[in-house]
Amino acid sequence: MAVRSSILGTGSYLPEKRITNADLEKMVDTSDEWIMTRTGIRERRMAAPGQNTSDLAVEASRKALASAGIDAKDLDMIIVATLTPDALLPATACMVQHKLGARMVASFDVVAACSGFVYSLSIADHYIRSGSARYILVIGADVLSRVVDYTDRGTCVLFGDGAGAVVMGPGNGRAEVLYAKLHADGSGAQKLYIPAGGSAIPASRETVDARLHFIKLSGREIFKFAVTATAEAIREAMEDLNLSPGDIGAVIPHQANVRIVDSVAERLPIAREKYFLNLDRYGNTSAASIPIAIDEAAGRDFLKPGMHVILAAFGGGLTWGSAVLRW
Ligand code: ACO
Repeated sequence: MAVRSSILGTGSYLPEKRITNADLEKMVDTSDEWIMTRTGIRERRMAAPGQNTSDLAVEASRKALASAGIDAKDLDMIIVATLTPDALLPATACMVQHKLGARMVASFDVVAACSGFVYSLSIADHYIRSGSARYILVIGADVLSRVVDYTDRGTCVLFGDGAGAVVMGPGNGRAEVLYAKLHADGSGAQKLYIPAGGSAIPASRETVDARLHFIKLSGREIFKFAVTATAEAIREAMEDLNLSPGDIGAVIPHQANVRIVDSVAERLPIAREKYFLNLDRYGNTSAASIPIAIDEAAGRDFLKPGMHVILAAFGGGLTWGSAVLRW
């Protein structure tokens, strides 16, 4: 039985098309100055027509498999965290399994919005530690531009498209998962949701006319929740593992808003420069945000061997959680 799991390789993919704040100024009543001061986001990416969540996921996965030196045929499981599946049925993970040419292994989606990657990493960690699986592909991928209302200035400035992936396997002393803890509070479900298109309010001409198939967000309430939940998740991880602030080498928070990260950093004794940020270039890519950030942070030597790295996520559900890696 493996004692721990490790991240063996990482990869990410961002669509080519950039949507700058100046582009959004032409669509809604907003300004670069408002978006920069309220969110820290400069630009985000948008998938091309016909380019779907599974396509982004496959691009990121190929890079992660190459960096791990693992063939798709060696995978024992594929998990896709997403809130924008290619279709409601079947799971996007099945599309990815087929496109990668993987064996007929368990492939499923995890719906935990922006916390989806941390949820999926925790599931993979348990399978690997129990010895039930050896190599698992864990992907966070979202094409939020398909569920964002580009007439709603309160949401359209926040989100972007992208995918990040990791290949996990038996612990090898590098990038080991030491810990993961997940939370949810469904009483806040309607603070961040897509009202129609599910079984409660099936899609109809009326729901489309009322724009109910787009993301609805209670911005201020989610902001407060995000700060509290992220800070608490990091504090909980440090307490459970008995880590002092000096033990933490890096924090990879969900990339939603620089003001959320600043507020979290103010509440915790971890130095601000340890928080990795790339949201200025990609906006909030939901389930993709943390694995894209891991891939970039690893590539830029922000993560150094032996360092404790905390992943901290929050999102629709409401969901939140953290994971700790020893890089
Ligand atoms: N441009 C210009 N003005 C705007 C814009 C915009 N894009 N959006 C809102 N405003 C206006 C509002 O209408 C409001 O005007 P009013 O005072 O005349 O009514 C004013 O700006 C202030 O609005 P607030 O919503 O109070 O602005 P706030 O400072 O809270 O910032 C924001 C809004 C950026 C959305 C912030 O609340 C936030 O980041 N919330 C968290 C959102 C988030 O991270 N969601 C993702 C969750 S992850 C997931 O699971 C998908």
